Amino acid sequence: MTTEGKYILFKGLMVPTETHSAESLKYAAEFQVRDDDVFAVTYPKSGTTWMQEILPVILSGGNLTPVQTIPNWDRVPWLEETRASLVLGDRPPPRAMVTHLPYHLMPPSFFTSKAKVIYVTRNPKDVAVSSFHFHKMASFLDDPGTFDQFLDKFLAGNVLFGKWTDHVKSWRSSDLGDRIMYIAYEEMVEDLRGALQRISKFLGRDLSAEALDLACQQCCFDGMRNNTMSNYSLVPADIMDSSKSPFLRKGVAGDWKNHFSPEQEARFAAVYKEEMKGVACKFSWDKD
Ligand code: A3P
Repeated sequence: MTTEGKYILFKGLMVPTETHSAESLKYAAEFQVRDDDVFAVTYPKSGTTWMQEILPVILSGGNLTPVQTIPNWDRVPWLEETRASLVLGDRPPPRAMVTHLPYHLMPPSFFTSKAKVIYVTRNPKDVAVSSFHFHKMASFLDDPGTFDQFLDKFLAGNVLFGKWTDHVKSWRSSDLGDRIMYIAYEEMVEDLRGALQRISKFLGRDLSAEALDLACQQCCFDGMRNNTMSNYSLVPADIMDSSKSPFLRKGVAGDWKNHFSPEQEARFAAVYKEEMKGVACKFSWDKD
């Protein structure tokens, strides 16, 4: 089912037709996951592109060539998007992928595999702000209206991939043991080197101090902003218009403070509190 042609409804979740099709969603549902596959899982606007930079660097032991020569959407494709079937077919292991799918919509072979997962979570208020600006620059998404109007849609889950709370809860209650590592966008902003070390350890890669230095220069915000293979400057302006808002926009934690009114903060807090009731894990932003 489509909504105004811009979205497909997939198991109740809105996904953009620009990058998804019935075939790509079927491909994801039937995908044969291998034990040495690596997934970075995110709710949109939580650091997906960042992981598309980090994973190839770490998995190759510090080789920067892939991130400097292959666009992010092909080097670490979204499992559910149309590029996946085109680039994953003959890719040698380890294959790195990103996905916005909630836990229960992962393909059956994922659950019986030993594939590793890095789940990146970001303060949902910053996610809402980042998403608002993204909707302004991406012509294949609905016009977001005012921030206040967009916030209502975000809280109701009438946005890409549904509610933030549902996504986070689905992956937080996953039964993957030591196959999954959780990391916060805010942790990566505060200490990128430490985050890269944690991720390397989790993936069983040992990067030298020098390789880590180079990885930090490549994967920091300015490094990625200057990388044409990661900053979406290859996408025509009629699809993604950086003059309205660059894709790599601010790259900070806490930008929500420049957008939320006290009333919007209260509205957000009421919904968040209700929906996160009973969730054991605490996030750094819970004390905001
Ligand atoms: P902002 O709009 O707040 O700047 P995604 O890739 O999931 O769509 O997320 C995009 C968000 O991640 C954007 O947030 C973008 O700037 C931020 N981001 C991407 N790479 C980053 C990096 N190296 N450092 C900090 N933030 C980064």
